[in-house]
Amino acid sequence: MAVLPIVKYGAEVLRLPAQPVGDIDVRLQTLIDDMVDTMYAAPGVGLAANQVGVSQRLMLIDLSVGKRREELHVFINPEIIESEGEVTEEEGCLSIPDFVEIVTRPERVKLRYLDRNGDDRMMWGEGLMARAMCHEIDHLNGTLFVDHLRGFKKDRILKKISKLAKSGMW
Ligand code: NI
Repeated sequence: MAVLPIVKYGAEVLRLPAQPVGDIDVRLQTLIDDMVDTMYAAPGVGLAANQVGVSQRLMLIDLSVGKRREELHVFINPEIIESEGEVTEEEGCLSIPDFVEIVTRPERVKLRYLDRNGDDRMMWGEGLMARAMCHEIDHLNGTLFVDHLRGFKKDRILKKISKLAKSGMW
């Protein structure tokens, strides 16, 4: 197991739609284990494979950040099949460290996905879980939370990032 480098805003791999996972093989299991280590080390509540440079439709969520093992969810080829309501809350991203902004997301979403054994599953997420599901699925589609911002808020974040990038601190 290993902690992998997390790619940041500006990396092309974050902007490419990720490819569906084909075989759930030993290589994929190793990637999953490494992503779990990486997410806990960050620390974060969610991580998509393209954040570690792998353009595949795989994402993890653990709202307990490793405190309760049963809260670790591995989603392979996830799809949102239903969503309800709307909540506006602060949100951040490991690929855009130290920035948070308010984003509107569905209150409840139902995901269809394969678990790490390749079994077909469905899961309803509510509140923070629904937000994390939407955020990580966005990653797999090449979308970042800043894309949901408008006007002044968006300009402010992008300006700060480009300043950091120019000074070599990104
Ligand atoms: Ni993120």
